[in-house]
Amino acid sequence: MGILDVEIVKLYIRMCQDGWEQGWHERNGGNLTYRMKAEEVDACRPFFRTPGEWVQMGVTGENLAGEYFLTTGSGKYFRNVQPDPTHSIGIVEINDKGDAWRIVWGLENGARPTSEFPSHFMNHSVRVAATDGACRVIYHAHPANLIAMTYVLPLTARDFTRALWKSATECPVVFPGGVGVVPWMVPGGADIALATSELMKQYDAAVWAHHGLFCSGPDFDTTFGLMHTIEKAAQIWILAQSAGQGKILQTIRDDELRAIATEFGVQLNEDFLD
Ligand code: 13P
Ligand code: ZN
Repeated sequence: MGILDVEIVKLYIRMCQDGWEQGWHERNGGNLTYRMKAEEVDACRPFFRTPGEWVQMGVTGENLAGEYFLTTGSGKYFRNVQPDPTHSIGIVEINDKGDAWRIVWGLENGARPTSEFPSHFMNHSVRVAATDGACRVIYHAHPANLIAMTYVLPLTARDFTRALWKSATECPVVFPGGVGVVPWMVPGGADIALATSELMKQYDAAVWAHHGLFCSGPDFDTTFGLMHTIEKAAQIWILAQSAGQGKILQTIRDDELRAIATEFGVQLNEDFLD
């Protein structure tokens, strides 16, 4: 029995492999963090090493003080997580101020958590507050069709949400609140972390223009499913726009979106309906 036999670590590695197989993680693209439950930390604790130094994050999330996160490493490839987890992923502990991390397992040979850890951390902070503690997963990927959409649609939550809802009938059921859109920004720092987390107060997914997508959720299935559903809708949108050379003959009307919401018992964000 080693840490790689602990169920939550196995599920985390499986999600990384699933993302790689979808083609969303070229080179070191994308990152995944999971806020561990106390009993999961206890199951992993026998395998922790002497902790590393505390490293300031440049952002603060007081509601995450003392939490433990599974994280992918900066510059590490999703393709390598399954065959080489100890160098590709790790566990970090958050200090009692909620502004620094230290490595307690993995990320061997001097690796560090993802460069997007500030964005993940701030998204966790606001989603934990927005979901009464239910949110545990933040997932960033580079799905090609969604990124392509950011070159041809206005960069507003309304434009993206409407386009995606109308691209596949299940979409309004899967993300009834819609998606937020962050304009192009330099990745990896506190500024994009704060801009994204501001949107994540309202949305459980946020598009990064010309870069990718952030999704949040209570577990790996829901969060991976959200990424998958949004990217599939984006693919259909791109295919329909390409096939019709920008001319759309028919689509799902707004009254039909409302009918789906009624039938499935979800509340659509009315700001995005005509
Ligand atoms: P990391 O390798 O630091 O996780 O960065 C990848 C990425 O997608 C940056 O946005
Ligand atoms: Zn990225």
